Amino acid sequence: MTKLCVVPFTLLLLFVSCSARPIYQLPSKEHKGSKQPLQTSRPYNVAHRGSNGEFPEETSAAYLRAIEEGADFIETDIIATKDGVLICHHDVNLDVTTDIADHKEFADRKRTYEVEGGNITGFFTVDFTWKELQTLRTKQRYSFRDQQYNGKFPIITFEEYISIALDAPRVVGIYPEMKSPVFINEHVKWPNGKIFEDVFVETLKKYGYKGSYLSKDWLKQPCFIQSFAPSSIVHVSNQTDLPKIFLIDDVTVLTQDTNQTYSEITSDAYLDYIKSYVVGIGPWKDTLVPVVNNYIQAPSDLVARAHARDLQVHPYTYRNENQFLHFEFHQDPYIEYDFWINKIGVDGLFTDFTGSLHNFQEWTSPLSISDNIDGYSAYLLHKIANMLQKYK
Ligand SMILES: *[C@@H]1O[C@H](CO)[C@@H](O)[C@H](O)[C@H]1NC(C)=O
Ligand SMILES: *[C@@H]1O[C@H](CO)[C@@H](O)[C@H](O)[C@H]1NC(C)=O
Ligand SMILES: *[C@@H]1O[C@H](CO)[C@@H](O)[C@H](O)[C@H]1NC(C)=O
Repeated sequence: MTKLCVVPFTLLLLFVSCSARPIYQLPSKEHKGSKQPLQTSRPYNVAHRGSNGEFPEETSAAYLRAIEEGADFIETDIIATKDGVLICHHDVNLDVTTDIADHKEFADRKRTYEVEGGNITGFFTVDFTWKELQTLRTKQRYSFRDQQYNGKFPIITFEEYISIALDAPRVVGIYPEMKSPVFINEHVKWPNGKIFEDVFVETLKKYGYKGSYLSKDWLKQPCFIQSFAPSSIVHVSNQTDLPKIFLIDDVTVLTQDTNQTYSEITSDAYLDYIKSYVVGIGPWKDTLVPVVNNYIQAPSDLVARAHARDLQVHPYTYRNENQFLHFEFHQDPYIEYDFWINKIGVDGLFTDFTGSLHNFQEWTSPLSISDNIDGYSAYLLHKIANMLQKYK
């Protein structure tokens, strides 16, 4: 690409004194005015809660930064307010990542609720209207991360998050989770008997999200729907053909809706069942490669069993800080990315530091042809290259 355009551009400069850009036609005329497509030739860079390593999670600032840093997808957790507005917020309560404690006018809203098998005391989004939540400001979850943005950014809605992705200067996908659906449906009611999952899909449709994985519609507005609750995935399966990812928790956690164990939901029989609803799984990375005393152990066979069924594997969560890096990675996040991408062979990575993953991928597998042609052609070229590799 560089070679192709440098020569004519230099020639043109002989004739045009000022900016030659409006006269010089880039090779892909049909993409004139359209956005740079989603790359599909290397594992997806999924910006976990935005670039939350730098900014308070799930804020406009975190998402804009992630887009600037090269995210393929911006990721979020969708829950609801008392009046049924879908918002981006990870926890069902507001205590850790907002300034709710400073709002004395809401002091009487403190509650204890049973959430996914445990009791939590705090301030819950389901007890506040959207108007009330707009008066809060977010803060950084971890004390060892930058605190200077605390109190600056509001919570955003699902629709605002979608708008951030659609307004990006290149095609940026969304990766929303139907979060804690059992709890949300227990506390929030929508008109006409609709449930949380229905309203979630309606919102995606309202903004034009549709189509199966790698279809033309999908490549225009890429989206993965994710959930830990298999019944939510099954419920939305006949409402949208957007690709779905089944999230898998730690080995000790039971599914919130069907009360199944880790070994049940990762069995061959279960993967055979769920594969008709999903294009992949999203496991916690330490369940794929167990860790003892901060040393990684032999990888489990889950990645191989998923790939054998043509299921993608998008593990979570990659974090740069020393306390999250296992000893074999020598406190170097690039060694961790190299291990997961090149040894384990995952298809997408949820990272708190989009910029680091992007830099690693640009250095080790830079985009060349594929960033100038549409995603489906890139995908085909990638498949062909892989096939040729076998005959070398
Ligand atoms: C939560 O608290 C309620 C009321 O005290 C109690 O009945 C219930 O067993 C508790 N649930 C758990 C999971 O501890
Ligand atoms: C989806 O299937 C359920 C039953 O599993 C049915 O009640 C519902 O009407 C279906 N929805 C659509 C949009 O087809
Ligand atoms: C969930 O399953 C566990 C055993 O795996 C059982 O002890 C527990 O009572 C079950 N909970 C519910 C709500 O059915």
